[in-house]
Amino acid sequence: MAKLDILEFPDPRLRLKAQPVETFDADLQKLADDMLETMYEAPGIGLAATQVNVQKRLLVLDVSETHDAPMVFVNPELLETRGTEVCQEGCLSFPGVYADVQRKDWIRVRAQDAAGKSFELETDGLLAVCIQHEIDHLDGKVFVDHLSPLKRALLLRKLEKQRRHAG
Ligand code: NI
Repeated sequence: MAKLDILEFPDPRLRLKAQPVETFDADLQKLADDMLETMYEAPGIGLAATQVNVQKRLLVLDVSETHDAPMVFVNPELLETRGTEVCQEGCLSFPGVYADVQRKDWIRVRAQDAAGKSFELETDGLLAVCIQHEIDHLDGKVFVDHLSPLKRALLLRKLEKQRRHAG
């Protein structure tokens, strides 16, 4: 496995729309494995292919407290959603900043695993939030797009400050 570089906002490649995966081969499995390794090392709980500059509809996540329950979603699709909830979110493409984002509370999602097998999942809470966040990435959207212009400006100023201190 290999660690991949994560694109950071405002890299314009984060705005590219991912293409459906049609070929389920060893390369796809390796990409999923590399993305999981990259996510665990970051550390983070979710990563979309868009964030590692691959325009394929693939995302990985692990919301378990023990970091031993990796999940891979290929060609994920929200079939049904219910309710709303507000959750504090962060993103590996926005290191060090967090914001409250409103999402659907309950979702039913259909996807394929890395071998191409279809599955459906109904979930809520953190997993539902994480799946919605990562599907956004595949559509070229990032979590700050959900904020008001004022809140977004404040968050991006904070991100700049963090970068200067880190650099
Ligand atoms: Ni993200």
